[in-house]
Amino acid sequence: MGDLERLADDVRRADTVVAFTGAGISAPSGVPTFRGDDGVWERFDERQFAYGRFQRDPEGFWEDRVELQRTMFDGDFEPNTAHEALAAMGRDGDLEAILTQNTDGLHGEAAAVGGETNDAEPNTARDTDPTVLELHGNSQRVRCTDCGNRRDGDPIFERAADGDLPPTCDCGGVFKPDVVLFGEQLPGAVIQRARSLARESDVFLAIGSSLVVEPAASLPRLAASTGATVGILNLESTPVDGIADIVSREDVTDSLPRLRDLVLE
Ligand code: APR
Repeated sequence: MGDLERLADDVRRADTVVAFTGAGISAPSGVPTFRGDDGVWERFDERQFAYGRFQRDPEGFWEDRVELQRTMFDGDFEPNTAHEALAAMGRDGDLEAILTQNTDGLHGEAAAVGGETNDAEPNTARDTDPTVLELHGNSQRVRCTDCGNRRDGDPIFERAADGDLPPTCDCGGVFKPDVVLFGEQLPGAVIQRARSLARESDVFLAIGSSLVVEPAASLPRLAASTGATVGILNLESTPVDGIADIVSREDVTDSLPRLRDLVLE
């Protein structure tokens, strides 16, 4: 029995399956990954986007963030067959939750394709099956640092691109992209929920992530420590491969649709 068949067997027998995703699942949709030859951090210095920079120099931060947003989210990008396979596994009742480091909103969109999204509070694109937990927030939204007002990011990024730096809310507060910046804590409730889902999981799938950024990268280890089968689906090796039961080096647009079909057999 091949690795993916074994993983499908474990998924079929599991009560709770949790998927954890990174930039690699959105790469086939045209959203660049962060590391590797053509990675975003080869073109930008991540310190430009740190929380300390935002606090110290909001104008310069926003000027650079407009460039980053153009680089990452240029033009239309849609969920790909890997996002759709996970959303379908949720609707099949074979996937409890998707914990994503991605801020592109594509899991929520893929889930919407198959069912109604709702306006669940930020960080969860939906609260029905599969739950999507956006651990690092969502780049398509901005949030006022004074009144907390969340808005669609497009018009605010347009204002910033036209020189309104930094863009401010009607209340006078400065807008911030609704993402967790380097040097900023993940919202406590979000990471607690992610950790409890990892602990509860019988199968934990780490998909399209280099698994180097904490606290997210510790989730597969946490799942393994409480007895879960860990499957890593990633083109390149990761520091967590050693504790995985199954490692697939296939492109996720091949492995995930195949995994879903195998589970349904
Ligand atoms: N199929 C499978 N794996 C893929 C594919 C694909 N089609 N394309 C890329 N990958 C893999 C790469 O081999 C790489 O290991 O996806 C991984 C992406 O790794 P990163 O670029 O490091 O992205 P990620 O792990 O999500 O980064 C985590 O770092 O900079 C921060 O906040 C940022 O959320 C991000 C975090």
